[in-house]
Amino acid sequence: MEVKVSYSSQHKGKGDALITGVYEGLKELEQSEKERLKALNFSGKKGEVAVLPGDAFKAVIYVGLGKKKELNADSVRLAAAKGVKKAASLKAKKVVCEPLALEKLEGDAVKATVEGLLLGGYTFDRYKEEKKESLKVTVVGTSEHKESFRLGRVLAEAANYTRSIVNEPGNVVTPEVLAQKAKELAQEFGFECKVFDEKKLEKNQMVGILTVGRGSKNPPRFIHLAYKPKKAKKRIVLVGKGVTFDSGGLNIKPEQFMKTMKSDKAGACAVLGIMRAVGELKPEVEVHALIPTVENMPDGKAYRPDDIIVYRNGKSVEVHSTDAEGRLILADALIYGSELEPDYMIDMATLTGACVVALGHYTSGLFTEDDRLAKTLTELSRQTGEKLWRLPLDPDLKEEIKGTWADIQNVGKSRYGGAITAALFLENFVDADKVKSWAHLDIAGPAFLSSPWKYYEAGATGQPVRTVVEFILREV
Ligand code: BES
Ligand code: MN
Ligand code: ZN
Repeated sequence: MEVKVSYSSQHKGKGDALITGVYEGLKELEQSEKERLKALNFSGKKGEVAVLPGDAFKAVIYVGLGKKKELNADSVRLAAAKGVKKAASLKAKKVVCEPLALEKLEGDAVKATVEGLLLGGYTFDRYKEEKKESLKVTVVGTSEHKESFRLGRVLAEAANYTRSIVNEPGNVVTPEVLAQKAKELAQEFGFECKVFDEKKLEKNQMVGILTVGRGSKNPPRFIHLAYKPKKAKKRIVLVGKGVTFDSGGLNIKPEQFMKTMKSDKAGACAVLGIMRAVGELKPEVEVHALIPTVENMPDGKAYRPDDIIVYRNGKSVEVHSTDAEGRLILADALIYGSELEPDYMIDMATLTGACVVALGHYTSGLFTEDDRLAKTLTELSRQTGEKLWRLPLDPDLKEEIKGTWADIQNVGKSRYGGAITAALFLENFVDADKVKSWAHLDIAGPAFLSSPWKYYEAGATGQPVRTVVEFILREV
C-alpha cells in the first residue's frame, strides 16, 4: 500500500472517508452522534476507532485521542495511523483527514497527523501478488501550518524510505546495493559521494571492514556521503552499521537468532533516510554520512576467533567472537569520522542483543559523555515517540574488554553489561581531540519489530531517523 498525503485549505467536502479525532468522553459531539458511537463501544480512548456511515463522506472514521490532558504528539500519530488503517480496510481511495488535536498542539498537531498517516499507512508488500491499494489523504488546514505539514511529510517519508531498505532481504540488498542507494541520493540531492571498494579500503587501512567482509562473496564497501551547504553553522558526522546479513560468521548464530538478521543494516539505512530528509530540508549544517557495510558469513576465507587486527589509529584488537562484527566495522568509520573534526559524531547500530535484554524491544540505548547532548536527544525522542534511554559508559567495565595479546578484545570477558562493553569498545576509535561530542545509539531493539506496535507494522520501523533529523534541525 502506498499512502499519498496532500495539504489543502479547502476540500470538496466529500470523499470515501473522513478521519476525525475525538477525546475520551466524547464531549465535543452532538447527542445523537455520541449515542451511536457509544452503541459501538467507542468512548474516544487512545487507540480506539469506530466508523459511522455519513452522507458527504461514505464513512466517518472516529479515532480516539484519549484524555485531553494526557494528549501528546504520539497520541496524535497513533490515532492518525489507526484512522488510515481503517480507511484502507474499508477500501477507501479518497480520504480527508482533519489535523487531530489542532486546538491543543497547533502546528505540531498537523505535523504529527501527517506522520501518523504515513507511518501507519506503510506496508512492505512489494513481493506479494496481492497488494493493498493506494490511498490519497488530504489533510485540511490553513496556510499557517503548511510548513508543519511539509516537515511531517518529509520526516515520515524519510523513515518509510529507511524501512523499505531494511525490510529487503540479504539476497537483494548487498553492500554494493547500499552503495548504489547512496549514489542515487547523491544524484537526487547533489551530495558528494565516495564509495571505497576493496582496493580503496586497503589504501585507507580500513582493516575492520576488510576483515569482517572477507567471508562473503558480496564484497564489502565504505560509503561517504556529504551534504555541504555554503553557510554551515555546525558539522555533524553520522555513522550507520551496515551489516546486510549477520549469520554470526564462524561463530554461527543458532537458527532462532539468525532469522531477521537482514535487519542488521538498519543503522546504515537510517543514515540514508536522514540524508534524504537533509536533502529536502537543506539545513545550514554540514552533514556527513559514513557507512561501513559488509555481509558477515562463514567461509574458508572468513576471519576467525583469535585473529588480531591493527587499526589505523594504532589500536590492536583480538577477535573473540566473529559475531561481534558490528563494532569491528564501526571502528574504521569512527576513525575516519574523527578526522572530519565534527561538532557532533552520532553512530547508530543494531549492535547488541544485550541492549534489548536491558531495555526491551521498544527503547534504544543512548551512550554519551555529553550531558547536554543526552538531554537534547532524550527530550526529542520523547516527542518523536522513538524512545531512547541513556546508559553509562562505565569506566569500571573497561577491564572487561582488555585484551590478552592485543590492546582490546571484541567481546567482554563476561556477558554482563554487554551493551556497555560494546559502547566502550567503540569509544577507543573516537578521537577526543578531534570530535567535540560523540553519541552512540544501540538500536538493536526498536529498529526491527517481530510484531506490530503503535503505528508500526511488524518489521522495520525507520528508527531513529525522525529523532536525528529533528536534532540536526535544532542545531541550525
Ligand atoms: N547484530 C547483532 C546484534 C543484534 C541482536 C541485533 C539482536 C538485533 C537483534 C550483533 O552483531 C551480535 O551478534 N551481537 C552479539 C555480541 C556478542 C557476540 C558479544 C550479541 O548480541 O549476542
Ligand atoms: Mn553479530
Ligand atoms: Zn551484527
